[in-house]
Amino acid sequence: MADEVSGAPGRPRIDTSVAHSARVHDYWLGGKDNFAADRAAGDAVMAAYPGIVASVRANRAFLARVVRFLAAEAGIRQFLDIGTGIPASGNTHEVAQSVAPASRVVYVDYDPVVLRHAQALLKGGPPGTVDYIDADLRDPRRILRRASRLLDLSRPVAVMLIAIMHLIGDQDDPYGIVRTLMAAVPAGSYLALSQVASDIEPERMAEAARRYNRLAKEQQRHRSRAEVTRFFDGLELVEPGVVPVQRWRPSSEIESRARSAMWGGVAASRDRPASHHR
Ligand SMILES: C[S@@+](CC[C@H](N)C(=O)[O-])C[C@H]1O[C@@H](n2cnc3c(N)ncnc32)[C@H](O)[C@@H]1O
Repeated sequence: MADEVSGAPGRPRIDTSVAHSARVHDYWLGGKDNFAADRAAGDAVMAAYPGIVASVRANRAFLARVVRFLAAEAGIRQFLDIGTGIPASGNTHEVAQSVAPASRVVYVDYDPVVLRHAQALLKGGPPGTVDYIDADLRDPRRILRRASRLLDLSRPVAVMLIAIMHLIGDQDDPYGIVRTLMAAVPAGSYLALSQVASDIEPERMAEAARRYNRLAKEQQRHRSRAEVTRFFDGLELVEPGVVPVQRWRPSSEIESRARSAMWGGVAASRDRPASHHR
């Protein structure tokens, strides 16, 4: 992507002076939607943790396996994918609609570069099955209001928070955000979540976070397995629980041997006691 500071009229401004997570992620995945500042941050992380490219790839493979599981085995037909990222191979609607063509997918991200790709995402599936919301995860109620234009929130929804929660610091109440989202969807819904680990290759990951945080807009907050498991409180984890993403129902021995520093899991929302109903 050519360096650009302000967008054309009516297009959101893209700040190229500092690294943005969507663009750094795109760089690691070999995409073209990144600038010098993103590549510098991406390289700084790679120098501290050489496994980063393998890790983001393992996370994308996790995303695809999770969506296939939700669509094919759990019968989910509605997906709320928050922290969409710049489209890469195996986007949520592609995987879900390859199983069930009428699956509905609402994507959410706050990055202007992702927004520019939204048109292509919307054209991706059968008409009226994919929507995009330009919104901040830290305002989950706004996301729910907008998502309800396409999704029927009285029927099961898979809430997907894939590789985004490490970009939500403790000051922004990450557990409260997840609780708000899951309280708005009925029993039979699912939470799918992955996030960068603090307790896998911990020294390298701590150095990677320090380097990234010096260069990037969003600060990373890595979390331990116990801290990631807490996101699933009140839900029923499906096997194998919270594990390194490559170990979550790998489709081959090779896939399971990938390197990653990410925890991931999927859990179902079951009937809550009456006092917990909204
Ligand atoms: C590391 S990428 C993950 C992309 C994709 N989910 C995946 O796993 O391949 C994180 C994405 O979350 C978005 N993001 C970060 N903080 C956000 C926030 N507060 N609200 C909405 N999107 C956010 C970024 O713009 C970026 O596109």
